[in-house]
Amino acid sequence: MSSEFHDKHLLGMEGLTEGEIIHILDTARSFREVIMRPIRIVPTLRGYSVANLFFEASTRTRISFELAEKRLSCESVNFSAAASSLSKGESMLDTVRTIEAMQVDAVVIRHSAQGAPHFLAQRIEASVINAGDGFHEHPTQALLDLFTLREKFQNFKGLRVAIIGDIAHSRVALSDIFALKTLGAEVMLCGPGSLMPYGVESLGVRITPDLKEALAFCDIVYLLRIQLERKAGLRFPSIREYQMRYCITMERLMKVGREITVMHPGPINRGVEISAEVADSPYSLILDQVTNGVAVRMAVLYLISGGNERN
Ligand code: CP
Repeated sequence: MSSEFHDKHLLGMEGLTEGEIIHILDTARSFREVIMRPIRIVPTLRGYSVANLFFEASTRTRISFELAEKRLSCESVNFSAAASSLSKGESMLDTVRTIEAMQVDAVVIRHSAQGAPHFLAQRIEASVINAGDGFHEHPTQALLDLFTLREKFQNFKGLRVAIIGDIAHSRVALSDIFALKTLGAEVMLCGPGSLMPYGVESLGVRITPDLKEALAFCDIVYLLRIQLERKAGLRFPSIREYQMRYCITMERLMKVGREITVMHPGPINRGVEISAEVADSPYSLILDQVTNGVAVRMAVLYLISGGNERN
């Protein structure tokens, strides 16, 4: 089993070994020190070119990759689907091959279709980093979640994480499940049965529709928003009912009688899956996750580029 990450692409957390994940997290720790200095830029990837291809909306992931690239001294270009020649009928593959012909070393891609990054990785020479593909995977989100957990809890063995919300439409849930299980954490999924993907128990997770059971189980609640843009709202009676059954409020957290850490990949919907009071409380690591995202993406870009072998 590999104990270091030396892949050309990062397409998902599925199949990464514990050693590979820890290697990425250790590398990210060095970059986290860099971004906390007064001068946050290093020359590590000078001359390395990255195209950020966002075919779907993003705030955190897109800006975080852009900052990671700037802080590594990469050349980077940003592609926005709405302002591109896709509207003139060009295919995604032709678009990406066109950008690659301008001597791009890596592409970061977010797309609504599951498997879009894998499709590209088989057809282009550049490295491919998956920044979220449909309901499938979001590996850099899982890595920044792991980094944030490691900073607080040091290791993962026996850590109990309850992922609550719209699991069916969540690429974050799947990447986090793969990663947490590989590292020895225990995972429980909680939400309405209609928002649980068919067969998910085969991944070695527990499932409950009962929020009280999930809170009694966990050290960490990892909240997911309801993905209304993917029509998740049709799978239960109303947002009001969802909020009454599943919204994490301070009252619900305090009833457990021990400290529970709160995480969320964002964007958050205050008052639906998380109360404003909990989101802004000392129990919440939401903004730490965002900060750590830049360091993790620096590490991924560095390792994908060939790391030390390149310098
Ligand atoms: N967590 C996450 O992927 O957020 P964005 O959609 O804003 O990138």
